[in-house]
This record gives sequence, C-alpha cells and structure tokens, in this order.
Amino acid sequence: MKRMPKTKLAKTQMVEQHHGDKMNMLIFGCFQIALLLLFSGRYTIAENTKSTYIIHMDKFNMPTSFNNHLHWYDSSLKSVSDSAEMLYTYKHVAHGFSTRLTTSEAELLAKQPGVLSVIPEVRYELHTTRTPEFLGLGKTATLSLASGKQSEVIVGVLDTGVWPELKSFDDTGLGPVPSSWKGECETGKNFKPSNCNKKLIGARFLAKGYEAAFGPIDEKTESKSPRDDDGHGSHTSTTAAGSAVAGASLFGFANGTARGMATQARVATYKVCWLGGCFTSDIAAGIDKAIQDGVNILSMSIGGGLMDYYKDTVGIGTFAAMAHGILVSNSAGNGGPSQATLSNVAPWITTVGAGTIDRDFPAYITLGNGKRYTGVSLYKGKLPPNSPLPIVYAGNASDDSEGNLCTKGSLIPKKVTGKFVICDRGGNPRVEKGVVVKSAGGIGMILANSEDYGEELVADSYLLPAAALGQKASNELKKYVLSAPNPTAKIAFGGTQLGVQPSPVVAAFSSRGPNLLTPKILKPDLIAPGVNILAGWTGAVGPTGLTVDTRHVAFNIISGTSMSCPHVSGLAALLKGAHPEWSPAAIRSALMTTAYRTYKTGQTIKDIATGLQATPFDYGAGHVDPVAALDPGLVYDATVDDYLNFFCALNYTSFQIKLTTKREFTCSKRKVYRVEDLNYPSFAVPFDTASGLGGGSGRPATVQYKRILTNMGTPGTYNVSVSSQSPSDVSVQIVVQPQTLSFRELYEKKGYTVTFSSPSKPSGTTSFAYLEWSDGKHKVTSPIAFSWT
Ligand SMILES: *[C@@H]1O[C@H](CO)[C@@H](O)[C@H](O)[C@H]1NC(C)=O
Ligand SMILES: *[C@@H]1O[C@H](CO)[C@@H](O)[C@H](O)[C@H]1NC(C)=O
Ligand SMILES: *[C@@H]1O[C@H](CO)[C@@H](O)[C@H](O)[C@H]1NC(C)=O
Ligand SMILES: *[C@@H]1O[C@H](CO)[C@@H](O)[C@H](O)[C@H]1NC(C)=O
Repeated sequence: MKRMPKTKLAKTQMVEQHHGDKMNMLIFGCFQIALLLLFSGRYTIAENTKSTYIIHMDKFNMPTSFNNHLHWYDSSLKSVSDSAEMLYTYKHVAHGFSTRLTTSEAELLAKQPGVLSVIPEVRYELHTTRTPEFLGLGKTATLSLASGKQSEVIVGVLDTGVWPELKSFDDTGLGPVPSSWKGECETGKNFKPSNCNKKLIGARFLAKGYEAAFGPIDEKTESKSPRDDDGHGSHTSTTAAGSAVAGASLFGFANGTARGMATQARVATYKVCWLGGCFTSDIAAGIDKAIQDGVNILSMSIGGGLMDYYKDTVGIGTFAAMAHGILVSNSAGNGGPSQATLSNVAPWITTVGAGTIDRDFPAYITLGNGKRYTGVSLYKGKLPPNSPLPIVYAGNASDDSEGNLCTKGSLIPKKVTGKFVICDRGGNPRVEKGVVVKSAGGIGMILANSEDYGEELVADSYLLPAAALGQKASNELKKYVLSAPNPTAKIAFGGTQLGVQPSPVVAAFSSRGPNLLTPKILKPDLIAPGVNILAGWTGAVGPTGLTVDTRHVAFNIISGTSMSCPHVSGLAALLKGAHPEWSPAAIRSALMTTAYRTYKTGQTIKDIATGLQATPFDYGAGHVDPVAALDPGLVYDATVDDYLNFFCALNYTSFQIKLTTKREFTCSKRKVYRVEDLNYPSFAVPFDTASGLGGGSGRPATVQYKRILTNMGTPGTYNVSVSSQSPSDVSVQIVVQPQTLSFRELYEKKGYTVTFSSPSKPSGTTSFAYLEWSDGKHKVTSPIAFSWT
C-alpha cells in the first residue's frame, strides 16, 4: 500500500480541495486494495513496509488461559510479529488495539483465534459573528436558553487542538466543572494543565498513529500537545461553545460580539489532526477518550471516503459514542455542487451541510469601459492608486498550461508587473494565487469563478488588493480584457455589509445527496452557517495559513462544512441543556423537523451554484432554527435496538453486527427487517425503474415506510398534511395512515405508515415533497426525496 502523499492541511482553502474529492477517492481505492489483500488470502505479499491497522478483538471470548485482556492482545500480536508494539488499546469504540504491521503480518493476524477484524488505517481530512443573530439567538432567546442546564453540557471537539489564550475561552461567570467530568488537561509542548479552566475543561492530543506513519513530530513546526498550530480547531471549538467576546473582528471585518452557540457549555478538545492529516487510529483513540471522559456532544469537522459501516473505524467509533448517549455532529463534506458527494452518512450521526448568512464583504471592480462589478474581499492594507491600472488575464501571462490558475512560478513577471491579474479559481489555494501574483510584480488580483462555483463568493484575507468575482461577472470581465486594446481596472473595498438577501443560500461547496451508501436514508440531515464565519484563531499562523503571512489575529473568517458542523454541535448542546433526558436521535429530530426551507417571501431556499431552488438532497430537512427546535412537539426517536434492526435490514451477519456495534445480536428469521422502517426524521425513496419497481410494468410501484412519533410536549392532536415541493408535481401518490394522532401524555408513542405509489419515470428523475404533522401550534416536518434510478 502506497503511502499518501504528504500535503499540508487546507484551512480557508479547504473548500477548493473537493474539485474533486481526489484525496477521498484515493483513500477509498487504497483501502479497497488492502482489504482484498487481507481477506481474500489469494495474494502473498513480500513487502516489508509497515502500515497501521486497527484490530478488533472478541473480548468476551478471550481464551481462559488469559486473565488479562491486554496480555491476550499482546500475545496475539507477538505471535505474528516480534517487533510490533501496540499504539493504542481501545475500550469503548471497539475492544482491541492499533499497531504497525506488514501486509503479510496483518494477513496472519487476521487468522488468529479471537481476532475479529484487521482494518487498515485511513487518513481523514479537515473538511468559521453574526450567526447567533442570524439564527434567532438574540438577547431574549439567549437568556431563556441559558436558564437550563447548559453549563452541565460538555462539547468534545475532535480537531487540530486549541489556542487556550483566546478570550473565547474566558471562564468568567461559569460555575465549577461538572462533577461528571473525568477528562484531563494534558501536558506537552507549549501546553500545561493551567491552560485549562472552567470553560476549556479538557485538552488531549493523540499522535501515535500520526507519528507511526510520518515519523516523530517536528517540534519546530508543530506542537506535540493539545496546542493548535493550524487554527481550524480553535475556530470550530469557539464556534460551538466559545464565550462571548465584545469588539471581535478580523481587521475590522465582521465586527461585533463573537460568541459560540452555547456560551455556557464546556469545551474539551482532542487533537487528532496534525499538519499531515488525521489518522483513524488517532481519531478512534480520541473518540474512545471522549466517551470515557464524559462528553455529551462530539463535534467532528473531518471526513474521509464512504465504506461499509463494519469496515469504517470512524463509523464504528461514532456508533459507540451514540450508544453512550453522545450526539455526534459531523460535516457533510466540501464535495459540492456535484451530486452524491457526501461523507459521514451513518444514520446514528448528524450530518451537516453549509449555507450562507446575511453578511457580506463587498469589493468593487470598475473597468475602463465604465462597467462596475461587486465581488468580495477581506483585504486590509495599502490601497493601489485610485486610477485605472492595466489588467491582464493570467492565461495570457504564462507559458504554463495551468498558468490561468496562477500556480506557483507560472506568471511571467514582465507581463504582470504593475497590473491587475485575473486568476481562475480552482486547483491551488485562493490566497496562494494572490501571493503568486504579488511575487511576480502584479499590483492586484481578481479571482474568477468558473461554472463549478457559480456565484458563490468565499471571502479571503489576501496579502495584496484582491477580490473574488462570481461566474457571470468573471465571464464579462474576461471578455472585456481579451477584446479591449488597453484594458484597465480599479478596485475599492466596502467593509462589512449586513442584511444581505436572499439568505441563507446553499453553499456551492456543500456536499450533496443522494446517499450512495444507504440510498434509503436521506443525507445531509440539515444545513447551518458555513460561509465566511468569524471565530477564534491560532496565534501560530496568520489568517491565510500561508508561511509568508506573518500577521496574527485572534479571530479569522473562514468557510466550509467544517464551520457549519460546530454550529449544530453548539445548538445540540443548547437542546441538551434545556432537555438533559433527550437522546441523540431526539435532539437530531428536533433540529430537523423544525428546520425551515423557505424565505419569508415563501420562496424555497436557493442553491448558489445554480441560482435555482435547492432540494432536500442539498439541505436535508432545511436550515437549522434553534429556537423552534427547543419545542418540537413530537420527535422521531431511535435507540441502539433500532440500529440493530437497521443492520439486519442491510443483511449484515451477526459477525458484521458485532464488528460495528460490539454487540452479540442475531437477526430473527421470522421478522421482516426494512431500512424503510428505521425511525428517521426524513424520507429517501428510491424507485428502481429498471427492475419494474417504479412502474416499469405500467402499474404504479408502491412502497411503504413506517415511523413512530414520541410526544415531547403537552397533550395534543396532530393532523398530517403532505405537500409537493413544486405544486405542479403530483406524480407520486402519498397516503398516510392514520391521518390523525392524539397524544395524551409526555413520551407517549404513536405509529403511522406512509405509502408512496409512483408511475414509471425516466431514470435520473428526482422529485420532492414534505410530510407535516401539526397540532396547530407545532409543525413537525419531514422532507421526502424521490429518485428514479
Ligand atoms: C462595525 O463598524 C462599523 C464601522 O466602524 C460601525 O458602523 C458598526 O456599527 C460596527 N458594528 C458593530 C456591530 O459594532
Ligand atoms: C489570451 O488567452 C485567451 C484565452 O486563453 C486566448 O483566447 C487569447 O488568444 C489569448 N490572447 C493572447 C494575446 O495571447
Ligand atoms: C437483503 O436480502 C433480501 C433477501 O435476499 C433482499 O430482498 C434485500 O434486497 C437485501 N437487502 C439489502 C439492503 O441488500
Ligand atoms: C384536525 O382535523 C380535524 C378533522 O378534520 C379538525 O376538526 C381539527 O380542527 C384539525 N386540527 C388541526 C390542529 O388542524
């Protein structure tokens, strides 16, 4: 197995990496090959290079000759390799350990008695204040929310660590650390136990897998400790649960009070991501510790490729967390706007896509022909002369085939000196393009969107005067520059603009459904703010993350589903504080069924990539509305047993169920298990046109889904109604039985069935509807996504 190329973690630039999700595909490919090697036994490998494996042991069937499971693990390991050491032993995510082995040793180990599986390690990638106001968490709402047990809630963040000196971690006014907390504040380079307080209550680092793969950490460039040398982890943790900081801004942009979603909740960070990536042996160890330490919410803005749940170390880890009552919130990925680009699709986690907020950072480009275009920028510094300057397209100032992208060293200085340079978006990081233009003598940069990005504008703190422009404006700009004899431009910056409409719109980069792994489960679950978000930053690198950027900031503005995920983590902490007894599934259901899908005008939320109406494949149940989520009326709850039945429906063997859940469970031969019946707050209904399901025979195809609602409020009678996303589309008949549900007491459960009948449709067709239960006060809404394959 070839080692992954070493690349630096992308930060602000991470949204560019998706086009396409090459790294994910590569990981996926490698993983498949390794599994083949492992489990087919048909290949004999004479290879001495070692890689990391995660070994699941059948702890409850330990041979009686051992009285200590660690001795047993070690003896099994020593039977295939004298030199191998255990990196970690796992208690909660799995029974087992991780270690370095050659492929032949791994193959041998897989055959030892009591060894359930030997799973190759996978590398994950990291996928940023107006958001409280945008989410309706103004002063009044905040006060009533804070009256719950919010300060008892602990949000664990698996990320790049933390910059503890940030004011966002000020613990003024917080009571003692919750007595349930069993975690630690670990000591390491530039980090000591006194860096924790009553806000940042725990900080750990897990680097054994990373060091085993890459060699010892170079302490000159990264701290072997919980300290964040990257910025991403400080940003996500302060977004979820940072304290309020007045007068926050990035160079004056987005000024105001910066605060996390749950200002009273506690933060515990687990540094599992390093400059070379996040490794699943470390991630699993982080989840293991988080469970043991007693976190209530786990926020993971990281992702890798899709794989069957029983082979997916992170899926297995998050299952264990859910089974311990922890809500796990994950980023959906930055693979959009292409379809079927999701990561993190397990039905026991909350998968979060990204939308914009009503804030903008305008920059104005005026051309020699008098035309003016509005883009965005976070540039702060010396302004270019306010007179028209020559402008050139990078593709015309380079001999390199990728010169239009302004890749390193691609620009010919003679052709760009003293000019504005138009660079196409994509490929290398956006801020790096600016540095390339600057070092070639350019005076400013225009970042031009291609079709892939549409009108989506991500703001960056460039090191030279620069602005990002949407696709339409970019096309006109290039046409002018390529045709005018002496094209010129001027640039001006407009600071921070509030009240931008429409908002939210779905971000182009936000990963989209359908869910390739389990098509009958709709993902993402919902969207939250993820574009141009202000939150805490590291003191170790500047806001662009580039080595040439020597600026230091306490807050930075970045974008990604990495930023939307901690918003939901923090909001889940608010719900947990208000309703400590709610399960992870109940909290997710409340967030989903109260989400909104239309603007005040009644129009459906837009997709910025197309300018058209977005759909549940883009936004799931819609945009999060935390105030409504506090009082959902009814929820779709789910327990470990529901997921066990779900695995039976996937035809998992008892062995595969044990690998995924650590539980002994045999599916009943007499019971009918159906994925359609997993008690999920949304519906994905794939019709198979080719096989006749979906009406190939001319008759409508009929499928039935079952759901159970739990009353979380006062007694009430709920009526159901169904509506189509586009009123003219009535092709699928939807029948709900019964049509009325009466709840007399708290936690009372009532079931219903919904039957979908569809005529034949061409493969590739999609259509969307909503099912809503209402008692006149609450609206419990589920999206329905139909697809014909
Ligand atoms: C941000 O700064 C601008 C310009 O200085 C000012 O007009 C505005 O009121 C400030 N906004 C906040 C929320 O402090
Ligand atoms: C500039 O680039 C465009 C697009 O690649 C090309 O069509 C045009 O011929 C180039 N012009 C010059 C003068 O090289
Ligand atoms: C499970 O097996 C049954 C019976 O063979 C089949 O009808 C069903 O489609 C399978 N389910 C999945 C999810 O593969
Ligand atoms: C539910 O339907 C019944 C019967 O049509 C009606 O009397 C009742 O007012 C409805 N309730 C609500 C909340 O719409």
